[in-house]
Amino acid sequence: MKHISLILFITVFLIAACTPSVNNTDARLDKRVDSVLQLMTLEEKIGQMVLYTSDWDVTGPTLRENYLDDIRKGHCGNIFNAHTVAYTRQLQKIAVEESRLGIPLLFGYDVIHGHKTIFPISLGEAASWDTTALELSARVSAIEAAASGLHWTFAPMVDVSVDPRWGRVSEGAGEDPFLGSVIARARVRGFQGPSNDLSDTLTVLATVKHFAAYGAPEAGRDYNTVDMSERVFRSIYLPPYRAAIDAGALSVMTSFNELDGVPATGSRYLLTDLLRTELGFKGFVVTDYTSINEMVDHGVAANFAEAGLLAIHAGVDMDMQGEVYFNFLKKQVEEGLVSEKLIDEAVRRVLKVKFMLGLFDDPYRYCSEEREKRYVYAPEHLDAALDVARKSMVLLKNDNQLLPLKKGEKIAVLGELAASTRDMLGSWKAAGDWDFMQSTLDVLREYNGEKNVIYAEGAKKTGDDRSGFAAALSAVRKADKVVMVIGEDWDWSGEAASRTSIQVPGVQTELLAAVKKLGKPVVVVLMNGRPLDLSREHLLADAILEAWYPGTMGGKAITQVLYGEYNPSGKLPMTFPVNVGQVPLYYYAKNTGRPIYLPNPKYKSRYIDAPNDPLYPFGFGLSYTRFEYSALKLDSKQLTAEGQLKASVTVTNSGAYDGVEIVQWYVRDLVGSVTRPVKELKGFNRIELKAGESKVVEFLLTPSQLAFYRQDMSFGTEPGDFKLFVGGNSRDVLEAPFVLK
Ligand code: NOJ
Repeated sequence: MKHISLILFITVFLIAACTPSVNNTDARLDKRVDSVLQLMTLEEKIGQMVLYTSDWDVTGPTLRENYLDDIRKGHCGNIFNAHTVAYTRQLQKIAVEESRLGIPLLFGYDVIHGHKTIFPISLGEAASWDTTALELSARVSAIEAAASGLHWTFAPMVDVSVDPRWGRVSEGAGEDPFLGSVIARARVRGFQGPSNDLSDTLTVLATVKHFAAYGAPEAGRDYNTVDMSERVFRSIYLPPYRAAIDAGALSVMTSFNELDGVPATGSRYLLTDLLRTELGFKGFVVTDYTSINEMVDHGVAANFAEAGLLAIHAGVDMDMQGEVYFNFLKKQVEEGLVSEKLIDEAVRRVLKVKFMLGLFDDPYRYCSEEREKRYVYAPEHLDAALDVARKSMVLLKNDNQLLPLKKGEKIAVLGELAASTRDMLGSWKAAGDWDFMQSTLDVLREYNGEKNVIYAEGAKKTGDDRSGFAAALSAVRKADKVVMVIGEDWDWSGEAASRTSIQVPGVQTELLAAVKKLGKPVVVVLMNGRPLDLSREHLLADAILEAWYPGTMGGKAITQVLYGEYNPSGKLPMTFPVNVGQVPLYYYAKNTGRPIYLPNPKYKSRYIDAPNDPLYPFGFGLSYTRFEYSALKLDSKQLTAEGQLKASVTVTNSGAYDGVEIVQWYVRDLVGSVTRPVKELKGFNRIELKAGESKVVEFLLTPSQLAFYRQDMSFGTEPGDFKLFVGGNSRDVLEAPFVLK
């Protein structure tokens, strides 16, 4: 140890009377932050505004080779893509013992749907519509991440998207602002803990990303231009960000895209007026990977120095990987182009979070080998991952009740994806390992007996190699039933993975067609990160199970669902179109002036070569049992400004299995000062029903749920006629009228 860190000394002095838990009232925190700030040189302050990746993981295009030296000099206060107790301790030691002030590092990582124990991709988790399970998934992820030395996750990603061509739909919660908001809240609670106590060594700081409207790139091409009306932005895209901030997330990541001609990273409107002033965000803003630099390519800055000026004045506190703040800010302050006050504000926000995490009390408090050993891949975490994986699966088709399969029947298992483990983790695998995992094939063999499972790869995930077809068809001939696992390579969704075709790639479907000709019942299990065009598969397969990328326990979850050990209950969080030409397609569309139901055969809003309707609507998902809806009742036909309306519906499990149904409540405002969506989700209930059982499910409606951005952009209600809908998906619903007074 070169010297006793000055900061540590002062901090210890300041908290002499402190109890083991971190005692942080707001005033006390501010005082502590200021006590550090006043010791810092301008360069050291800027260091706290710098975030570099370690060389442990690659999540972007660049690497700053000398980041260790930067830490030593106090020029870099934050590191991402470094994990494990041993490695974070090693880096923290450099910061604490070798830098002048010894300010501890903040360690961030993309812990999106798991750290070591990987849960289903976020879109899959959203299909569970189970906020308790989702919160638990984030909680487990936080526990494992924090036990591996991390303080900060770059999640939740709350970007609403209606375009399956965009590869990053896999990371979000789908197309709906209401469902997206509920899920955003659950994830923040999970990461930051139920009491939002960042000093708890089993919580991590959450990041709301990507602010804002990143999910609406033109033509679904990643990083592309975003342009939309303020009304659409506020009504559809903003709510989940707001929900996550209200839930207490203390960092926000800017997005790569422009909005209305201004790149988000340089938008004072987004980062200060909206985020801080209107939404009341109190944490710090970090850029996405080199997104300050990218403002040069966007064409709003002539060089990096100018881009940095845009960012700092917009409200960006921390530069991820761009080296722009590091290279230019000091000179810009000295030349009077940036006020030091602005720098102080940014540094205060970063230091405050470091204090809240307890890092000034003990910079190594997240470095416990004991905790790492105890929590990483803990059996209860694997159980949770299995539970969420099962809940995320969506049964899209099940003709003649082919599923569940019966144990002991001979099955042919086909497809490269059936034997894959890596793919099951999806694109954000964090620190998850796939070596020790079981593939779907492994578990099917274990469950159904080696001799009853005949595997032939048949078709690869991509490419046009048909050399495996013959062996696959011969396997099918020997079997009673066929399970084909098909879909996309893990790397075909996520960042920088946009597609213009959303069909199942390669020759997988061609093999399915050949198998179908042999007349054996065929189950398709899908692994993919986006809604696909399944028109051909829908005709060819007898049953289709959407399994997404189901995570570490995916093989077991798929097997349990296929064999009825678990009755599927997932519901689609995004519309599955008939073909890519319908995109963007979402259930909360407007009616238009020439809706499809008009009698006139030609001049209406429709396609001449495809239906308007999707293949599978938002909210859709079957069960091994059947749910029937009846007796929708409202306790009054009128809702007054201060009143509430109670709706009830009877849901009956009329099939042969116990099951879970997600009862969905939608509303339509029939006449407004601006056009209103044909349906908007306003609530849902996740209910369990035994075979033969009925339940009355209630829903409470208040005027605030009917508020929207009116023609003058004020937010509120308008009296008039409404419809309430209820059903097991957004298409098949019962309806009842009511009036808002
Ligand atoms: C770029 C991605 O857009 C963002 O989501 C991620 O958190 C960062 N890279 C860091 O890996």
